[in-house]
Amino acid sequence: MVLFEPWVMGPFTLANRVVMAPMTRNRADDDGVPAPYAAEYYRQRAGAGLIVTEATQPSASGRGYAGTPGIHSDEQEAAWRVIGEAVHTEGGLIFCQLMHTGRIGHTTLLPEGTPLVAPSAVRAELLVENSDGVEVEAEMPSAFTIDGIHSVIEDFASAAERAVAAGLDGIELHGANGYLLHQFLSAGTNVRDDEYGGDPKNRARFVVDLTAAVAERIGPERVGLRLSPGGKFNDMRGLDDDDTYLALLEGLEPLGIAYLHVLRRRSTPLHSELLRRWHSTFILNTGYFGSSDQDELEMHLRDGDAHLVSVGRYFISNPDLVERWRRGVPLAEWDEDTFYQGGPHGLIDYPAAT
Ligand SMILES: Cc1cc2nc3c(=O)[nH]c(=O)nc-3n(C[C@H](O)[C@H](O)[C@H](O)COP(=O)(O)O)c2cc1C
Repeated sequence: MVLFEPWVMGPFTLANRVVMAPMTRNRADDDGVPAPYAAEYYRQRAGAGLIVTEATQPSASGRGYAGTPGIHSDEQEAAWRVIGEAVHTEGGLIFCQLMHTGRIGHTTLLPEGTPLVAPSAVRAELLVENSDGVEVEAEMPSAFTIDGIHSVIEDFASAAERAVAAGLDGIELHGANGYLLHQFLSAGTNVRDDEYGGDPKNRARFVVDLTAAVAERIGPERVGLRLSPGGKFNDMRGLDDDDTYLALLEGLEPLGIAYLHVLRRRSTPLHSELLRRWHSTFILNTGYFGSSDQDELEMHLRDGDAHLVSVGRYFISNPDLVERWRRGVPLAEWDEDTFYQGGPHGLIDYPAAT
């Protein structure tokens, strides 16, 4: 099966075509330091061709949820070093997903006096959790100044540098699911009239500038980008236009980054176009609304829909997912109650098949 074949991605050789999708698990402490048992969690899952970590904030001002880790302090970097070593000891590869949540989040989760910022002052019409875990209406964000944009780009570049200094193999920029990067791409959340908004090229500019800055700092072969074109999660309302993604690809082309990771609910002409125009590794995630079933994923690889496929929830409950698929061992079901809570329970106590 193609699923079990290795894949060369720049300097990295992935043992198979199955990527562990990024999944927030909310076990970090109040300072954004990953839990000590996070190393065991990722070590158990090192049989994936590549692990993409839970979303991690590049600065304290990018934190949108309690319990998400950061990678902007020495203490956090030290914890990530232990995680990276654990995965490498098992022969795995690990990229850290960097996420700034933009308008999603709450000021009580940010350092005192830090405002919620987004491309434009467009409020998300949904409930968010504040620092006490209470659900409240999302707040109106303020629009980024140009200086603010430059400083958030610098935050990402420094965080990427820390990830590599900690021994992780690279980083993935979270451009999906209605967080900051996606907010810049979509016409519904970006109503700026400067060079970062207006037409497709301008809406794509933030992601291009950010990717360029990060790639320059750690090398393009260590940078991936996740996108969810047309995704509605986090009150995005599917208002992205295809031209923005085509402009984005044009801007990314000269940078030569490692991969594009696309979430797709169903195939659209845009997806075929992204695949046709993308020159390096293409990762597909068809989960949530589609399926992460082995046969279907194999079919996507055979049909040339992607070079790699990513899988989320099966990796929560099956640390040795690829091995189980290889040997035809039935899969364990996941427990949603411990997705975002439970400490080590639901994180490191799903057994491997013997
Ligand atoms: C508990 C949980 C946390 C998630 N956190 C993230 C995240 O931090 N970053 C991200 O890009 N996607 C996140 N996702 C989405 C997954 O990466 C993936 O796209 C989704 O689970 C669908 O794939 P699946 O059907 O194989 O689980 C999360 C999904 C789950 C279930």
